[in-house]
Formats: sequence, structure tokens, C-alpha cells
Amino acid sequence: MSTSEHDRLLIIDFGSQVTQLIARRLRELNVYCEIHPFNMVTDAFLRDFAPKAVIFSGGPSSVFAEGAPMPPKSVFDLGVPILGICYGQQVMMHCLGGKVERGHGTAEFGRAYVTPEARRLALLEGWFAADREQVWMSHGDHVSEIAPGFDVYGTSPNAPFAITADIDRNFYAVQFHPEVHHTPNGAKLCENFVRLAGFKGDWTMGAYREEAIQRIRDQVGDGKVICALSGGVDSSVAAVLIHEAIGAQLTCVYVDHGLMRKGESAQVVGMFREHYNLPLIHADESDLFLGKLEGVSDPETKRKIIGGLFIDVFERHAREMGGADFLAQGTLYPDVIESVSFSGGPSVTIKSHHNVGGLPERMNMQLVEPLRELFKDEVRALGRELGLPPSFIGRHPFPGPGLAIRCPGEITREKLDILREADAVYIDQIRKHGLYDDIWQAFVAILPVRTVGVMGDYRTYDYACALRAVTSVDGMTADYFPFSHEFLGETATRIINEVPGINRVTYDITSKPPGTIEWE
Ligand code: XMP
Repeated sequence: MSTSEHDRLLIIDFGSQVTQLIARRLRELNVYCEIHPFNMVTDAFLRDFAPKAVIFSGGPSSVFAEGAPMPPKSVFDLGVPILGICYGQQVMMHCLGGKVERGHGTAEFGRAYVTPEARRLALLEGWFAADREQVWMSHGDHVSEIAPGFDVYGTSPNAPFAITADIDRNFYAVQFHPEVHHTPNGAKLCENFVRLAGFKGDWTMGAYREEAIQRIRDQVGDGKVICALSGGVDSSVAAVLIHEAIGAQLTCVYVDHGLMRKGESAQVVGMFREHYNLPLIHADESDLFLGKLEGVSDPETKRKIIGGLFIDVFERHAREMGGADFLAQGTLYPDVIESVSFSGGPSVTIKSHHNVGGLPERMNMQLVEPLRELFKDEVRALGRELGLPPSFIGRHPFPGPGLAIRCPGEITREKLDILREADAVYIDQIRKHGLYDDIWQAFVAILPVRTVGVMGDYRTYDYACALRAVTSVDGMTADYFPFSHEFLGETATRIINEVPGINRVTYDITSKPPGTIEWE
């Protein structure tokens, strides 16, 4: 069975900040769904996609605005269940003959409470065990008259039509956001919706693995595939999956820029070569990278040098192995979702992220991207399915430019060696205290200052370092991890005692924003 043979749910995106969360909730229910921007959803698209159910997301617009985002009218004739959320609810009412009013004094943002009406609704099974449900509202306009055929099933003080439905046509509309965690019973509502739409819940990682393998075989035929393996979770899972599909037609290149953590290159190369028997070129290019980085202290220049060299090196190795027909990448679903942007204008570049985005054009290769449909936690689940060690799958993210961006100022081999040792002690401490999995990312940055200390009867004049540990959901925002003073004290003592070259340890308590997670 291929992805297209699974029951599919279509999420029409009207530009809400939380549309992806709808997809997350559904995937958790083993339902295959895709998000598509409203302006891409045409009559022909709907026919091709053949959804078993449709969800209209929220969005920042008003149905009164000129050119307000709308779904094609034909969506209401598909004969499948539709759930409208927030702006999606207003769109549904607007299209089906109800009325929406501008929100003068009736806007609601944040926590609200919905109380039930006497009628029962399958969508609300398991709701209202207490006499009201907490929900998350975020709307300016509101529905003032529901469309013919709809009844009211729940109200809130500012939304008399918080939950409405036309049960004959299986159309449901809610003013709040069931997809966010602040609607504690929201997942149950999503579950009820897909159950009454008749989804079997057959989107499992075991099934996905088999389908993905078949698709890779179909796409690649007897062609050659090359993959830049970084040792990160995404590229590792992609490589192992492709290897399972096509064996020795895959060659991986591990570009070692000399900016990896202690023992990391040996660990990654060893695991893939020995455990997975994967054809792997270990391109030790540390002299090249560190040479070009000599004397460079500007963060963007560092990133650009590393990104450019990476492509050069990868291209050279691909040529040396006689070229390839396909380039494999660990692209994830959040990277390919074409989200609706109402902000217009280019956003400011905070950091030039290191990726291999320039490669496919330069090398004139087709892409193999077997993780394009998956979210990060689904990639981890697939990795477990493929037998990758749990400790490997649960590793904190590590940036492409590696330790270069944890070494503000000029990069020297001496500083990198000190940084690697300090980082190893810090991570060891975190593991020993059982905190690793509670933290999104933890690392040491070596600071470009030396400070005076006293050890025994001697004066020292060594580097200071900063410990960083953050909690986050997606790396976009983050908060510092609240270590105990005892943990921090013990870790500082260990680093100073065990790592020659460091005589002062600080803890970075900046959140993101205003800081970023990495120091550069
Ligand atoms: P910042 O420092 O921007 O980082 O808050 C957010 C997340 O992205 C990681 N990061 C990168 N990952 N290439 C990557 O693959 C990069 O160039 C890069 N820069 C930052 C960072 O480690 C954090 O998880």
C-alpha cells in the first residue's frame, strides 16, 4: 500500500500559526494528513487528493477583507465530513449562508469555557464530564447567525456559537482551537472527528517503512545514490532506510570538518560502517576547514566558509566515486509545508543556516527525500523501527557548523580541544544526573577571554567557558534549563579540575528570544 492508498485527510491552511499542530494531533491518531494552502486547493486538486475528510484551519484574516481566503465551493459537495476551526468556522458559515460579524467588543483571546447544550453530538463524546470545558479562543470576528441546517452544541460567554454542527451533512464548526494544548480535551475532539469520518488509523511507522522502501526502489531503479551523512538523526535515518531499500547502490559521505565533539566522528563512522555495513566515505577534511577558518572571528563569515567548503568537498568526493544519479536528503515535512504567509516581505536573516541546499542544482542530481512526509518525532519513531540505538535517536540536535559556532572569536585547535573536553564532562554530568532527556540541547561554549584564577598556590590565567542548556519544543523559542545550584557547582568543579585550560565556568540563563540557542 502506498501513501496515496491510505485514507487521507486534507487540512486547508488559512494561515494560522498553529496549523501544523492540527497535523500533529491527527498523526498521533495514525491518520495520514497533508496541509495545503487554501490558494493551492482547486477543484481539480480536490478531485485528485480525494480526501476522506477535510479540516479548515484558523487564520488571521477576516471574511470581510477583500480577497479573503476561501476554499473552493466544491469542497462542500464532496460528501465528506468537514471540521472548521476558528477562521475555518467563519468561512464555513459565510459560504453556507450564515452570518459573520466584525468583532466589536466580542473578541476573545486566550482561555475560555464552553458549556454544553442539551443535544448530544458524536464529536463531543467524552466532553463535558465536568459541566464545562476549557478551550483556547483567538478570534476577532464572530459568527452571529449560523447557516441553515446547523444546530448549536456548545456556547461560551463571548461565542454563542462555540460549537455548531450540521449532522446530516457531517459539517462541524468550532470557534476555539482544539489542536492546542490549552484546550486540554482538544485531542479527544480530533479523535472523535476522525472516528466518525471512518479513518482506520493505519498510518503506522511499520507500514510507512515498507511503503517508503518500495517507493525508493521505484524511484531509483538501478541508479546510484549519494548521501551526505552528518550523524544527525535525520540524515542517519534517511541513510539507513535508503540502504535497506537499495543496498550498495547507496554511498554515504561523512564530511569531517574537524569541528565535531569528542569521539563523535569515530562513533558515527564506526556505527554505520560496522553495525549497518553501509558504504561510507570518511572525508577527513579538518586541515582544509580549520585552515580556511584561521583568523576568522565574524560569525556569518565562519558560517559561509563552512557551508561553501562543505559543498566543494562533497562534490569532489562524488566526482571521485564516479558521480551519482540521485542525492539523498533528510528533508522533513515542516521544511516542505508551504505555509500561507500574510506578513509579506522578506524576513531578516538572523543566521545563515548551514545546509546542503545548494547541492542539487550545482550537481544536477535528482533528490531522494524519504522523510518529506514526516515530523521530527515520526522520524525518531522510524529510526527506532529501523533498529537505530535509542541513545542515538534521542541525541540533542547538533548544528551543521559544529563547534565553530560555540567558539566565539577566532577558532584555534587548542581552543577546540579544550572545548571538546569541557563539553564531554558537562554532558557526562547531565547524563549521570538523569537530566539528558529533559533538555532540548546542552553544550559548552568556550569564551574568547582568559581570566585569572588560583589553583593550589599557583596563579592561573586560562579560558572561561559558558554552559548552555535549554528546553524547547522546536528550537524556535527556548528557555534556560533550571539546574540546581548543587548541579552547577559540582559541574563547574569537575570542569575546572578535569579540563586543563579552563579556570572559570559560567551558566548562560538567556532565553530565546532575545538570545539564540547557539552563541553565534
Ligand atoms: P539558534 O542558535 O538559531 O538555533 O537559536 C536553533 C537550533 O538550530 C540549530 N542550528 C543549526 N542547525 N545548521 C543546523 O543544522 C545550522 O547552521 C544551525 N545553526 C543553528 C541550533 O543548534 C539549535 O538547535
